Amino acid sequence: AVLILLGPPGAGKGTQARMLQEKYGLVQLSTGDLLRAAVAAGTEAGKQAKAVMDAGGLVSDEIVIAILKDRMNDADCRNGVILDGFPRTTVQAKALDGLLASTGQRINAAISLEVNDSAMVTRISGRSTCADCGEGYHDTFKPPMPGEVCTKCGGETLTRRADDRAETVASRLEAYHAQTAPLIAYYQEAGVLKSVDAMAEISSVATQMSSVVETIL
Ligand code: AP5
Ligand code: ZN
Repeated sequence: AVLILLGPPGAGKGTQARMLQEKYGLVQLSTGDLLRAAVAAGTEAGKQAKAVMDAGGLVSDEIVIAILKDRMNDADCRNGVILDGFPRTTVQAKALDGLLASTGQRINAAISLEVNDSAMVTRISGRSTCADCGEGYHDTFKPPMPGEVCTKCGGETLTRRADDRAETVASRLEAYHAQTAPLIAYYQEAGVLKSVDAMAEISSVATQMSSVVETIL
């Protein structure tokens, strides 16, 4: 199955994708994570992506599509993927359609996580991630154990993302509305759009996500 998670920065795509991965054995494929790994590894694509990401813009379609295609070819992706943060432009959506057509797959659902922009700054500025296992936390909404210890793996290093600053969040939201929001209509027309209320608490969003996923698996 191929599942797309659509939604602005901070909507909860990563949080929900990790839960769905555990529950249904689909592989979470986050272009943000793949790009951050490329930046950390200092690859040519990573070098080009870094400045754009720090400014809150969108990395070029060319780089992102290449990274995504490469990852989709891995054997573990054949049973099903959750695309978290891809596609983000119409060009990317069309490239994905082409890629899936060539491998005989199709999009089973594009789930739109619906939220208000006003909540996003609070969500993003309170976010941290376990350096050891990648679990996500929030200072208020999903705190780690006392002493900043990861509840899942006991890791003691929680990191904050370079682009999670108030100034950058505004640009990221702008990029979302200008370039990514039109994909809601794109997938509506394709007949695969589902919406969930992502203003609800994490567990309630998870319940809504599961009911969508169970209709397609
Ligand atoms: P990316 O890594 O994809 O970041 P993003 O889209 O900005 O999304 P986030 O990871 O910020 O948010 P999320 O929706 O995953 O929320 P989360 O679950 O963490 O992209 C980063 C950059 O890479 C982009 O700006 C761009 O430059 C580049 N890029 C990536 N993909 C690209 C592409 N396809 N094309 C071009 N460029 C690309 O939740 C946020 C916080 O809120 C957490 O602390 C969480 O614990 C908390 N939380 C989650 N749900 C709830 C809830 N229901 N209630 C309360 N708190 C909640
Ligand atoms: Zn951990």
